[in-house]
Order: sequence, then C-alpha cells, then structure tokens
Amino acid sequence: MTNLEAPTDTAGDDLAQSTSDASFARSLARSREIEAQIAVDPSRFRMLTGDRPTGNLHIGHYFGSLLNRLRMQNLGVETFIIVADYQVITDRDGVGPIRDRVLSLVTDYLAMGIDPARTTIFAHSAIPGLNQLMLPFLSLVTDAELRRNPTVKSELELTGDRPMSALMLTYPVHQAADILFCKANLVPVGKDQLPHIEQTRVVARRFDERYGRVNPDEPVFPVAEALLTNAAVLLGMDGTKMSKSKGNVIELGMTADETAKLIKRAVTDSDRHITYDPVNRPAVSNLLSIAGLCLDRDPVDLAAELGDAGGGGLKKLVTEALNERLAPHRAKRAELVADPGHVLDVLRAGNAHANAVADATLDDVRTAMQMVY
Ligand code: TRP
Repeated sequence: MTNLEAPTDTAGDDLAQSTSDASFARSLARSREIEAQIAVDPSRFRMLTGDRPTGNLHIGHYFGSLLNRLRMQNLGVETFIIVADYQVITDRDGVGPIRDRVLSLVTDYLAMGIDPARTTIFAHSAIPGLNQLMLPFLSLVTDAELRRNPTVKSELELTGDRPMSALMLTYPVHQAADILFCKANLVPVGKDQLPHIEQTRVVARRFDERYGRVNPDEPVFPVAEALLTNAAVLLGMDGTKMSKSKGNVIELGMTADETAKLIKRAVTDSDRHITYDPVNRPAVSNLLSIAGLCLDRDPVDLAAELGDAGGGGLKKLVTEALNERLAPHRAKRAELVADPGHVLDVLRAGNAHANAVADATLDDVRTAMQMVY
C-alpha cells in the first residue's frame, strides 16, 4: 500500500472534515463487523490487495500490511495479491529495475508464508482482461470526479511540479479494475485510501445502472468494502517518513548486520530516560513501537523497563528484537533467492489463474454490454 499522507485540506473546511470523520467512524464500525463475519464464514469474502514495485519491501510494509494479509489467508479468505507494475509509471518517467523489484516482492510474500495454493500472486501488466476493464470503467467516471479525488490530489502533491499524466488522473479507475476484475468484495486499506474504495463502489454501481446484468438477480460487480487496518504507521530511522532515498528504511531482505548499522545511526534524543511519547519524542517512540511489534509487547511497558538506559539501551533492544523477529523470514528469503526459477514459476502460475478469472469477468461484461460477437 502507498504510505500517502492523509490529505491535508488547508481550506479549513470543517464540514468536509467532520463528514470525513463520520464516514471514517462508519468504515471502522463496518470493518469490525466484517472481521466478525470472517470468523464465522470466510468463504463469503474475496480479498484483493497489493503493492507497487518501486523498491524492496521493508518493515513498514511487514507490520503495516503484510502480516494482515497472512492473517486473512490463514483465516480462509480467498486472496489476490496484485504486483502493480503498471502503477509504477503513474508518477515516474521510467520503470527502473522493475523485473528484479517484482520478483523481490514475490520473494518476500513467499518468505513470510503467503501460500500460492491459497493466494493468487500476479502482475498487473500480465492480465489483459483486467486492463481491458479500464475502457468501460472510464466511461463511468467524470474528469471532475477524478480531479477532486483526495488520493489523486495528495499523490500529485508528492510529485511536486511534475505535470499530471492521464494515467495518474485515472489512478482510481485502474485501482477499481484491479479490485473488480476478480469481483473482490474486500480491500484492506489505511484511512487515506478510503476514497479509492469509494470510487470503486461508484464504478460497480454505475456499471449496473448503465450496462445491466447477466443474471437478473445479481449485479456483474460486487460493491467492495474497505477493511480498515489499524496498524501504526512506522517512521524511518531518522524519525521522519520512511523513504528509500533518505536511507532510513530497514528492508526485509537486509542482513542482521545491515539492520544493526541502520539502527545504530538512528536518531534518538539527549534524554536518557526512555518514555513512550509519540508527540514529543517521535523518533524514540518509533523505536519503541518497532520493538513492541517484534516482541508483541506494549511500548509503554518496554519504556518503563528501559528506564534510564538511554538511546544506546533502546537501540540494543530494538536491534535484537527486530533481528530475531525477522530471522525466519530472512532464512526463507535466502532459500528462495537461491531458487529464482521457483519464484518465477509462482508468479507465472498466479498470472495464469488471474487471467482465467479476468477472462470470465470480461465475458460477463461483454454479455451485459451486448458485445458478444
Ligand atoms: N496502490 C497500491 C500501492 O501503491 C497497490 C495497488 C494497486 C492496490 N492496485 C490496488 C491496492 C488495488 C489495493 C487495491 O502499493
């Protein structure tokens, strides 16, 4: 998932803010209901989630989204993971070392326990039927709607003065295609991604109104729901937003030594007394959060135990906790790196399955649209 900042609406639009707070509260309540339903009958849900291959996966992904995917898979929710290679070019001029990055993502999924027998891992660009949905879907949204989509707006802010490509403008529409090609009804998201899901719901409803159905009792596309994840957003080792270019990120594939070095350089402060205080001591608190996640402990308790241990004591704790926590992942990852043929086979099998699913959906779309020749 993107780590977009929450859209900062400086216009002081209190009404919009309170409306979005209310809809956030509703989404949160609904997510709790969905969790309860999954526990009873996971077969009612099909989940679509994914990542953009712009670099290697890091601990922010691991604790923020990957573990939740694994949990869903293991609860029995049928899951599709899209490696969104086409999305890389929404805001970049080139694709970078894309093939290696795609395979690196797949390697981490497998290393952490994503099971290709239960979860379909596929590449966006390899699924023509998914991409063809863009055309009818584009007919269902207006350009004004896209321009005011908060996620598009904040993406644009991140890219500075770069002119917006049409691919960027239509980002919510291709995410709708990613979700709907497999008729997914569940998408795990952070709060900032809710507007995307809303756009997907709009596309599904309008398709039904405008182009009709195959089976009179059931729309072609489900109205997908967001599953809000309450994972804390981790910061980089310098206490600012994680970013590969800032060198403040601990990647899953790094060695224990590389990890130790990065943590050694981490920012702390001069107060030797360790406290968990995310507002006033973000860097220290971030390290405590990481240790807490690794050890499954409350960071407040860890801080109390560290007492006057200072930045050095804190870093020692985090280094040991993180390296120990990631050791099995890294061992499995190394095995997979030594067998690239296997990783590629998994991706190809995932692509084949996703293509079969996409083609079946496209058949429905053609039938509903009376374009079967
Ligand atoms: N946009 C997500 C990211 O930046 C990846 C993604 C692509 C995705 N299509 C999606 C996530 C559909 C959820 C649903 O990493």
